[in-house]
Amino acid sequence: MLKEKIVKEVRKRGFITFDRFVEVCLYDREFGYYTKKRIKTGLGEDFVTAPEVSKSFGKTVANYLKRRVEELSLPLKILELGGGKGFLAKDVVETLNPESYTVLEVREKPKWLKGVKWVKSLKEVEPFEGVVLSNEFFDAFPFKRIKKTEGELREVVIRERDGELYEDTVPFSGELPCQIGEGEEYCLFTGWEDFLRELSGKLKRGVFLTFDYGGKCREVAGRKSFRAFRKNRLSEDYLKHPEETDLTALVDFDYLSLLLEKTGFKVERLAPQSSFLLENGIEKFIEPGEVPQALMLLVDMGRKFKVLEATRARSR
Ligand SMILES: C[S@@+](CC[C@H](N)C(=O)[O-])C[C@H]1O[C@@H](n2cnc3c(N)ncnc32)[C@H](O)[C@@H]1O
Repeated sequence: MLKEKIVKEVRKRGFITFDRFVEVCLYDREFGYYTKKRIKTGLGEDFVTAPEVSKSFGKTVANYLKRRVEELSLPLKILELGGGKGFLAKDVVETLNPESYTVLEVREKPKWLKGVKWVKSLKEVEPFEGVVLSNEFFDAFPFKRIKKTEGELREVVIRERDGELYEDTVPFSGELPCQIGEGEEYCLFTGWEDFLRELSGKLKRGVFLTFDYGGKCREVAGRKSFRAFRKNRLSEDYLKHPEETDLTALVDFDYLSLLLEKTGFKVERLAPQSSFLLENGIEKFIEPGEVPQALMLLVDMGRKFKVLEATRARSR
């Protein structure tokens, strides 16, 4: 069981950092939430993402990408990051029939998905010109939780007593990309920079488009960013059942932008998902009977989710 595995690791070291804890919970080969569990689709179960809510999401995105590759004279080659169950890939491939569509995803390829190449590591991707697309990818990276208490930054770690896990804190010696106030907590995604550097080496020229739940640094730092979901409910006792829990945090788009610029991208725009979908004609792609789903994309998810676009020019 996952909990026993974590307890063993904690006993060896005294504690594990929170990002290590998230990594094990989500991506352990045997028991990880993403790697092991077959997440059910449909509303009301585990979680539901925009491409799963309605095809109109993927079709609107495809429509936009078609225009952008024409404007920038790019080949219609797409790399999707963290493609999950393959819904976005299916809708984009059906709409655009691209030269190539590669999905980077640690989970298994769905058997029904046709016309895409599925890879588990960026190492398998050849350098290319085109598009990098993702939905809810950057929030699925391991993160640290840093709190400010009595003026001092401390990071949450996990310890164990008699086989039960509990939270503690130790001094945090790194730097935070965002100022936080007394009593606030900031979730620091630790793997983003290395990943973006590697990605930047793969995308020779092109467009980067990502959708995620979050906001600018001050918007996410002042809120409860870390969330654990179990059986589609916010869960307070995630340490009791780590194997059944999805751990996530809000994306700080200021930090993501900073790292994109640092790794060779140029950030073009950050906007609410609803503005993006409306500007790009979602109404044309909504099928009869799908109005509630479209409203969910536009109203509820539309405000909470943002889209960030960046470009990558050919390096000289
Ligand atoms: C929250 S899910 C979103 C899935 C899908 N994009 C959607 O919108 O339905 C995040 C996905 O990213 C994958 N993932 C996260 N980090 C990854 C990495 N470094 N390499 C490959 N896949 C990764 C996870 O396995 C998971 O399926």
